[in-house]
Amino acid sequence: MTAISFLLNGEKIALPDAPPTLTLLDWLREHRGLTGTKEGCNEGDCGACTVILTGETGAPAAINACITFLPQVHGKALRTVEGLAGESGALHPVQDAMVACHGSQCGFCTPGIVASLAAAQATGDAAHDDVLAGNLCRCTGYAPIIRAAQRAEVDTRWAEADAAALADFVPQISAGGAGGSQPHASSGGAGGSQPHAFLPASADELAAWFEAHPEATLVAGATDVGLWVTKQLRDLGDVAFLDNCRDLQRIEEDADGLRIGAGVTLTALRSAIAPRHPHFAEMLRRFASTQVRNRATIGGNIANGSPIGDAPPALIALGATLHLRKGEARRSLPLEAFFLEYGKQDRAPGEFVEALTIPAQPDRLKCYKLSKRFDQDISAVCGCFNLRLEAGTVAQARIAFGGMAGTPKRASHVEAALTGQPWSLETVQAALPAFAADYTPLSDMRASAAYRLATAQNMLLRYFHEDNGVATNVLEISA
Ligand SMILES: Cc1cc2nc3c(=O)[nH]c(=O)nc-3n(C[C@H](O)[C@H](O)[C@H](O)COP(=O)(O)OP(=O)(O)OC[C@H]3O[C@@H](n4cnc5c(N)ncnc54)[C@H](O)[C@@H]3O)c2cc1C
Ligand code: FES
Ligand code: FES
Repeated sequence: MTAISFLLNGEKIALPDAPPTLTLLDWLREHRGLTGTKEGCNEGDCGACTVILTGETGAPAAINACITFLPQVHGKALRTVEGLAGESGALHPVQDAMVACHGSQCGFCTPGIVASLAAAQATGDAAHDDVLAGNLCRCTGYAPIIRAAQRAEVDTRWAEADAAALADFVPQISAGGAGGSQPHASSGGAGGSQPHAFLPASADELAAWFEAHPEATLVAGATDVGLWVTKQLRDLGDVAFLDNCRDLQRIEEDADGLRIGAGVTLTALRSAIAPRHPHFAEMLRRFASTQVRNRATIGGNIANGSPIGDAPPALIALGATLHLRKGEARRSLPLEAFFLEYGKQDRAPGEFVEALTIPAQPDRLKCYKLSKRFDQDISAVCGCFNLRLEAGTVAQARIAFGGMAGTPKRASHVEAALTGQPWSLETVQAALPAFAADYTPLSDMRASAAYRLATAQNMLLRYFHEDNGVATNVLEISA
């Protein structure tokens, strides 16, 4: 249990004993009677549970309440669909437009869609297709909903009210006021009868606590961990939530490159990387959905060790270095060295991912994500290519794949076959057989082994052709 305080539709809420793994969705519906927010999939896929969370930056973000734990809203302002209407119940412009454009039939998805669109409006995001990629509507069809999104006028009144209230509220709760209290490591600690939640305010606090509680579960965005609870019914034991470690959420740039804190969300990473490596940013547009990207962190995407995580292949191809910390001890390693084998990473108990650095370099990166659906789908294969050329010769090749092995993995034989060779179709074709030396992919529900291998080879061909100005992306080719 932990004490938390937050704003709910403008009202101050103080909970002295928030259960660590009660989901925000269950709390809203079962403890507050706010049943406008719906439960569809309970795993972050359908968007029926979308609510809007505003943190200290003041930017509202659509998130999935079903895979957010209640303590994660501490110190933030939460808006549910019930809190969007204006004074005297006047509809929010998005609600109004949904009515006018016939954007709702059975209505089950509608509160989530309204919440997504209202958050997008408040931040000026008019990429309606991307905004709604995580909102599933089974009966209306998206054309009327997109028409509603286009028709709705911007209304930022609730967002401004939340930002102003937070500016007043956050200092109060930091001082233990506002009817709430500072979140703390509960006295029971590891081994007590109840699991406990800790909300450290900095990486230093996290480091000290995690070293003393190495068996505890770290929770960053909870877009993986949330499903351990909602789908696998796992008991997490003691938990540390990283949400309030602001220093882990920084992106810093110097002449050597970018340093990205482990708590940086995929949304923030996408914005930061877009001017430097636009193809990586474009791939991140297809990472899950807006709601998931608003919560998911780069540290979680690396630490979970998934062989099909999308960011690691791109980061490995860019030559990223990972920075780990245990207590006061820090060490760094090339990102690819972190992934030892399936389910096993080079991370000691009590050690956590603090940051990663991407060296400054001219942009030569291309990322190809292959999945069964374009939007909101996990990769079957994700290939990332970064070849440096000098006078028409391959001077350096960094190629990494997800979905081809038990870990994200470099294609070292392919890299060797390309390096030092003229950058030509002959060189590429001669290198293709080396993929079989690098990878022995599995067959599973996403793709067969043979398909994965052929696809990986085709991605290298695609990189070559694109590099030579040939259009290969069906989304970019028009009649
Ligand atoms: C609907 C949906 C779609 C998804 N689509 C994609 C997709 O397209 N591509 C993709 O790659 N992933 C996808 N995911 C998976 C998930 O969103 C990502 O892996 C995400 O980056 C996990 O980050 P998180 O902050 O939510 O991690 P969490 O769930 O909080 O944690 C994940 C793991 O990392 C550990 N951890 C977290 N932070 C640290 C740290 N700083 N140090 C050490 N350990 C840490 C946790 O203890 C846990 O073991 C999807 C998930 C959902 C629910
Ligand atoms: S209930 Fe489906 S995303 Fe939350
Ligand atoms: S209106 Fe029925 S699911 Fe969208």
